[in-house]
Amino acid sequence: MNVNEKFCGAEPASMVADCFTDPSTWERADAQWGSHERKALVCRRVRNETHDVRTFVFSSEDKRAFGHEPGQFITVSVDINGEAVSRCYTISSPPTRPYTLSITVKRTPGGIMSNWLHDNMKPGVVLHAFGPAGIFTPASAPAGKLLYLSAGSGVTPLMSMTRAAFDLGLNRDIVFVHSARTPDDIIFRDELTKLSAEADNLKVIHVCEGVGTEADWRGPTGRLSLELLEKHVPDFRGREVFTCGPAGYMNAVKEVLLRGGHDPARYHQESFNFAETVEPVAEIDAAPQNTEQSTGGTYTVRLAKSGKTFTMSSSETVLAAARKAGAALPSSCAQGICGTCKTAVLEGTVDMKHNGGIRQREIDKGFRLMCCSRPTSDLVLDL
Ligand code: FES
Repeated sequence: MNVNEKFCGAEPASMVADCFTDPSTWERADAQWGSHERKALVCRRVRNETHDVRTFVFSSEDKRAFGHEPGQFITVSVDINGEAVSRCYTISSPPTRPYTLSITVKRTPGGIMSNWLHDNMKPGVVLHAFGPAGIFTPASAPAGKLLYLSAGSGVTPLMSMTRAAFDLGLNRDIVFVHSARTPDDIIFRDELTKLSAEADNLKVIHVCEGVGTEADWRGPTGRLSLELLEKHVPDFRGREVFTCGPAGYMNAVKEVLLRGGHDPARYHQESFNFAETVEPVAEIDAAPQNTEQSTGGTYTVRLAKSGKTFTMSSSETVLAAARKAGAALPSSCAQGICGTCKTAVLEGTVDMKHNGGIRQREIDKGFRLMCCSRPTSDLVLDL
């Protein structure tokens, strides 16, 4: 069940007034926004979080409230230099403030979308996004005691969870350990400090690799380690762990927890690092293909709605071939994880090797992920 369905009406009135000139014209009843529904989002505010991280606050152009679960992501789609670029961003705002939705983005060197957002997004600018998706949510593993571990911009889904728990007065027992390079790089530092002072059961620990310009930094320094956990979270073995950050960080966290005797069944991590998903589809397609069809034939693909037809090799993914043929298919991770490229196959068959981005019931209904599907016959797609 969507959190908004459970707790509708929990949004602070000040937030509503802040966002709309005439709130009475806005609809709250239908807070659903499907992962396949493209919505126009209007930027309302831009907030500097650190020297290279900004939060972009949006409202919906269709004057409807948003609906998502804390921890989910949206897929932002922008035309950059004539090319459609899509990226997934975790929602940093909580569903308890449903009239606005925020993403918090680090400017990544060479990152096409992050640089575009930092350079172009300002109040009044409209962009499009596909609705919330993802299973990295507290609802997936209800627990009394939680340990949130994040690094860098991996803080965003955990921030959404923390804000939601606070807004709802859930009084969850949360220990939130966030790692940053220096104190200047800590995202949401002031807000987390304030929340931990106000909430009875929220403990926040910032761990910095170095002190940077803050010579009087009093928090722990170094990297997350077993010793650090034993010292600051001595009961970590009894907590449900949610982790998000760069792949290297999450691997290290997993190893530390295992070594410390934490039950792996109580460990959850964001399935991939959105910030690192910047590789073009062509590169992915050039990777060695471990499929039976890699040396097979040529097939015809027809897009039923647009009427476009193209031929492709069975060694390519449908997404890569469609791109080459000039057909714009929504996509983001290109790894079969995010579900953005989910498409109904109306005729024909494909060989799909996904990484959890599609549910069995969707497969049963004829949907497939185009980024990790290769044709085994001619195809007609619902596009
Ligand atoms: Fe993410 Fe296909 S683009 S699953």
